[in-house]
Amino acid sequence: MHSVTSDHFVDESTETGAQSEPDYPDDTAQVSRRPASRRESVRANMRWWDGAADAYQAEHGSFLGGSRFVWGPEGLDEAEAGLLGAVKGERVLELGCGAGQCGRWLTSQGAYVVGLELSGRQLHHSRRLDAREGVALPVVQADAQALPFADASFDLVCSSYGALPFVADAASVLRETVRVLRPGGRLAFSVTHPLRWSFLDDPTESGLVAVHPYWDRRAYVEEDEHGVPTYVEHHRTVGDWVRLLATAGLVLDDLVEPEWPEHNDQVWGGWSPLRGRLIPGTAVFLAHRP
Ligand SMILES: C[S@@+](CC[C@H](N)C(=O)[O-])C[C@H]1O[C@@H](n2cnc3c(N)ncnc32)[C@H](O)[C@@H]1O
Repeated sequence: MHSVTSDHFVDESTETGAQSEPDYPDDTAQVSRRPASRRESVRANMRWWDGAADAYQAEHGSFLGGSRFVWGPEGLDEAEAGLLGAVKGERVLELGCGAGQCGRWLTSQGAYVVGLELSGRQLHHSRRLDAREGVALPVVQADAQALPFADASFDLVCSSYGALPFVADAASVLRETVRVLRPGGRLAFSVTHPLRWSFLDDPTESGLVAVHPYWDRRAYVEEDEHGVPTYVEHHRTVGDWVRLLATAGLVLDDLVEPEWPEHNDQVWGGWSPLRGRLIPGTAVFLAHRP
């Protein structure tokens, strides 16, 4: 399942200009599907993203750009999709902002953006891109399950594959989101399309066979030789997301399932033109606080 993240936006070119490619962490002894607690998930993912940030940004940096808001490997670009509507003058929080590419684009559209991110090394890359792009994105290092902001401080909370696929307690992220949103404020986030969890992370024909029960909610967990999680991702079905949003008091406005565009011929980890033309890879949920 690593392609969901480490290969999330695979791009052959490098951005950091490093002579030798940085490596992804490689201390995984075994992979399993099992429950993973909130604490285990945060610890594993903070460590993993700190260790992976250099390689991730080197590998995917040119696709992600410095100020660009893409919703997923299909390349759906907010500049064309307009899923967020007008953001000029809005106070925006980006969850799991990584190197802040989306937040920087929103800033260029006149929004007042804060990026929230678990990994300090990802934020190091955000500062690097700030310098390159000439836009200083304010960021905080925190866990999206406990937002360090006052009630009703944002008009919009958004995320492109950030935080939500990795947390054990998505309900707390949504509860916190509702708290920091003003009444009428919006939430927009993308995650791996839940259907994808039934399939192997194999971009070829053999990856087109459903091999795993869609309703198995156990987390995807990589562990070191002592059984300590080194990487965790959590699965929720479409119905789970709808219930989570409703329980948090949000109104679901749309569920966008981007199609694989004709012009996109790149294989990105488990995502590929072959599979992308047949099954969805990304789900974008759009909701608001009444
Ligand atoms: C796939 S990246 C998405 C970031 C950016 N949109 C991109 O495409 O590169 C996922 C990000 O979520 C962050 N993340 C994971 N768990 C988190 C948590 N509990 N709170 C905040 N951020 C988290 C990771 O550190 C990582 O930077």
